[in-house]
Amino acid sequence: MDYYRVLLNGFLEAQICAVTSVNEGFDILKEGFEQFSLIVVDYDTQNSQKMIKAILDLSAPIPSLITVSNDSFYEAKKTFKLLPILDYYTHYGNGDAFFDKIERLLKIRANRQKERVYCKVGIELFAQSKEVFFDVYLKISDQKYVKVLNRYDEVDHSDLERLYSKNIKHLYVRERDFSFIIKKLIQSFNSSEQPVTSFDLVDQKELNSLFSIHLQEMVSETVQKIGLNQEAVEMSSIAINSTMRLLEDSKDLKDIFMGSVKGDNYISEHSFLISFLTGAMLKESPYFSHENALSLTVAAFFHDVMIEGDRLAKIQNREEYSFQTLGIQEQEKLLKHPHQAVNLFSEIQGIPKQTIPIVENHHENYEGTGFPKGLDFKRISPLCALFNVAHELSLCIYDSGCEDLNLKAILDDMQNRYPLGNYAEAVKWARAATFKESQDDQKKVA
Ligand SMILES: [Fe+2]
Ligand SMILES: [Fe+2]
Repeated sequence: MDYYRVLLNGFLEAQICAVTSVNEGFDILKEGFEQFSLIVVDYDTQNSQKMIKAILDLSAPIPSLITVSNDSFYEAKKTFKLLPILDYYTHYGNGDAFFDKIERLLKIRANRQKERVYCKVGIELFAQSKEVFFDVYLKISDQKYVKVLNRYDEVDHSDLERLYSKNIKHLYVRERDFSFIIKKLIQSFNSSEQPVTSFDLVDQKELNSLFSIHLQEMVSETVQKIGLNQEAVEMSSIAINSTMRLLEDSKDLKDIFMGSVKGDNYISEHSFLISFLTGAMLKESPYFSHENALSLTVAAFFHDVMIEGDRLAKIQNREEYSFQTLGIQEQEKLLKHPHQAVNLFSEIQGIPKQTIPIVENHHENYEGTGFPKGLDFKRISPLCALFNVAHELSLCIYDSGCEDLNLKAILDDMQNRYPLGNYAEAVKWARAATFKESQDDQKKVA
């Protein structure tokens, strides 16, 4: 600890609050986490995983640097998802790297504070909704907003009534979600007009029957924000049309699909976004063809059909903290779902051949510690690696809510972690597919 205290004191003007036990850390967080810009947590300390989990669960998670011994470095990285607000540092590494990381995390914190604008919404608006499509906050003070409903949560009406009885008449949403609420209102006034999203080529009627307009707009905005090229978006749209036709042809498949992709839940948004990400990456790869685009899109929509519930669908590997907190049965279910999906495909006509290995291997990883087979980077095909990289990107984008997205940092990190083989190639395609990345680079050159 002295080592880190000396390092931090040397470079930062900020006040440092050091604690000697994780429990002491918990207490300080409870008192008021907003006062902290950055947290340094030692992974090798007892209970540190709980501490990091508590930080991630805050209504506004604080960027954190996790310090870790050489031996547990990979374990630590796997325990927590790849998030822009987390970074890792090996004990007694070189001080410059330490400060690069600190600087990056502080920048993220500063950007977040700048960007966070809340808009007031009458509480009665939620009284009519079964679920919310965006995070909803309660205002505590001008500086402090606490999240009371998560995106895709069901609305607990008794909670709302309780708030109302305490004379709380308004809740708050983020600025961009507010613009969605307004659009929806306008649509309800002009109910005869067809809603318009940017996915012009997708059969709108079919798409609307599967996904809400709000979800389509969220994905459309993300696609624009990360700058996927228009041609790639069109190609994915065509593949999505074909996927929907597949559903029309098989009632069984459609029933299973509707059970997991409920139109407005995490799996829906996740699947929808992956189909665009894989399309855009494929466009930059030597494997570009409409057939491969379709294989990837079908995989995007069906890879998690055998999983019920958003909580399970977010878990990517066995080492994750959230996996370890599951019961044995749930763990087994999760470990089996790639296989079960493949079994399902064998009964359905029209599933592209390439979709099968992609779905089967979507929980494999670079190091070979994934499931079901433990295939490492040397044993994974280009299309599977492409899918897995797109899948990971989609998780990061979801977690950062797009607004706090630091795509460059995410891609840099992936490039470091995936130096070889088809994963390394796939990261290159992802870089080429996102315009923000190339713009940033151009700025650097200028
Ligand atoms: Fe999965
Ligand atoms: Fe997934």
